Amino acid sequence: MKNKLLIIGASGHGKVVADIALKMNRWQSIAFLDDNKGIEKSMGLEVIGTSDDVFTHIDEYEIFVGIGNNTTRQRIYEMLETFGASIPVLIHPNAIIGSLVDIGIGTAVMAGAIVNCCSKIGRGCIINTGSTIDHDNCIEDFVHISPGVHLAGTVKVGLGSWLGIGSVVSNNITITNGCKVGAGSVVVKDITEPGVYVGVPVRRV
Ligand SMILES: CC(C)(COP(=O)(O)OP(=O)(O)OC[C@H]1O[C@@H](n2cnc3c(N)ncnc32)[C@H](O)[C@@H]1OP(=O)(O)O)[C@@H](O)C(=O)NCCC(=O)NCCS
Repeated sequence: MKNKLLIIGASGHGKVVADIALKMNRWQSIAFLDDNKGIEKSMGLEVIGTSDDVFTHIDEYEIFVGIGNNTTRQRIYEMLETFGASIPVLIHPNAIIGSLVDIGIGTAVMAGAIVNCCSKIGRGCIINTGSTIDHDNCIEDFVHISPGVHLAGTVKVGLGSWLGIGSVVSNNITITNGCKVGAGSVVVKDITEPGVYVGVPVRRV
């Protein structure tokens, strides 16, 4: 474990990630990389270079990707893993994690989120503010569960899918890879084709 943390991405999502890291009180120093050269500081923390500079710091820092877009986050994490980066898990001290929950590297669990027992969360996921993931869920890699989403028991969400703010998924439902579920939408049947789904209950658009 290294005592320095580098966060790639210093804007909205990166700031929330930094806030969690500060509250975890585990790193002596935290800094950002961001491709916008106009940003010198964010959350009071220094931006020490662009994402291309990550290799200069890979031995000294643990590295976390603070980028909300699932595809971009996946691409950067896969590159970082190839180069042997140390990638932590970030869990806000006010998140609740049940027994026998497994959370993959590079995942952030935000304030007020609840992950109930026996659920598995993959690598590089975002479990956003105040979302609830009930028992025996399986959330695959690079999924974003937005703020206020509620997943009932035994839900499965496939690789890279994004559940929009306030959406709800009923129990025993499977959502396949590469889906977007709209804000406030409700999923009551399996989604087997990648696509954009909205409404109550969801329809494909
Ligand atoms: C689902 C979503 C991704 C679709 O975006 P899009 O592909 O740009 O689609 P459009 O805005 O062109 O909408 C397509 C149709 O779906 C409807 N629609 C879009 N989002 C909807 C929603 N959440 N609920 C109901 N209908 C919705 C639109 O009204 C439109 O209908 P129409 O063709 O009858 O006019 C987006 O609307 C959404 O809900 N994003 C979630 C945002 C979010 O959760 N942010 C939090 C981040 S932390």
